[in-house]
Amino acid sequence: MKIQHLIDLNDYPVQWWKDVVALGEKIKNNPGEYAHSLDGKIMATLFYEPSTRTQMSFQTAMLRLGGRIIGFDNPANSSVSKGETIKDTTKIVSSYADILVMRHPVAGAAKAAALTADCPVINAGDGGHLHPTQTLTDLLTLKIEKGTLEGLTIGMCGDLVNGRTVHSLCKALSSLKGNKFVFISTPQLRMPAYIKDVIISGGSSYKEVDTLEEAIGELDVLYMTRIQQERFASREEYLAQKNTYVLDRIKLQAAKKDMIVMHPLPRVDEITVDVDSDARAMYFSQAKYGVYVRMALILTIMKNENPVELLKGREYGGVCCDNPKCITNCEPYLPKSFRASGDETLLECEYCDERKLV
Ligand code: NCD
Repeated sequence: MKIQHLIDLNDYPVQWWKDVVALGEKIKNNPGEYAHSLDGKIMATLFYEPSTRTQMSFQTAMLRLGGRIIGFDNPANSSVSKGETIKDTTKIVSSYADILVMRHPVAGAAKAAALTADCPVINAGDGGHLHPTQTLTDLLTLKIEKGTLEGLTIGMCGDLVNGRTVHSLCKALSSLKGNKFVFISTPQLRMPAYIKDVIISGGSSYKEVDTLEEAIGELDVLYMTRIQQERFASREEYLAQKNTYVLDRIKLQAAKKDMIVMHPLPRVDEITVDVDSDARAMYFSQAKYGVYVRMALILTIMKNENPVELLKGREYGGVCCDNPKCITNCEPYLPKSFRASGDETLLECEYCDERKLV
């Protein structure tokens, strides 16, 4: 039997995510109606990386649907610490649970898990790569707070190179009509080229600026992000970027009256606490909406109505992915599968999206 997973939102047509978001809004307005929808079902949360909101909102979502939860939030307490592969952990846990939610520090890990799982797998963040369920949360927030997912000017600020939330959100919003992006970062933290290409091929546009001040006045949405300390090669490199962008009440004065400020959280120092009481600060509501949209997602995925093909490309002899943070370089048994573009000289890794010329 083919199984439905959520690894990357772009594996699905836009209408599928719109339906999940619409169901999330319906659940928000009437949560009691869904209280027994998954009675007796079990969700396993496999968190190989720290998490507060994503893990607890998934667990809350399952409990609010009547289901139960198992899992680990510290791989040191599981057989992972003894050297077990994702393949074996997934194979076993998917025979205990009806749905798996995985967060992992390496790009492509959730896809690797889905290849062996006997139940649906949801990607709750794979390294600096993607975070599709944060994107569903963000889309529900935009729908509720801006009333639309289209025609918006969205500023994304901070660590755009390592931030998986902004990667997923850009991919999603550039598939919708009329969105424009303003990327606010230092040259070292710019948005990856593959995301910019997705934006252009989706018919959207972007520009890159160095300061919040040059962009804030034109934005409908300001999406702040944390500098991802754990993804830098050295502490020095992190320290050189730390504290570059701080949104405070003074900077906010130049923003539109109806601009909203979003942040996937956790916040470190990029938004001062005095912004919290501004009516435009939406990040706490955003975290709350995450429960409703994850309830909607779990219900949708467990219906198994739209299984997707996990690997659509093929292996190219001994060609390996060049990204050291790709799961294929950590778990060697995985098929090194690539999508080819045009004349097959440009290959794109099917796990982490890194490109290479052959
Ligand atoms: C984000 C993540 O883990 O990618 N947090 C979250 O899921 N809400 C953002 C971050 O860690 O900075």
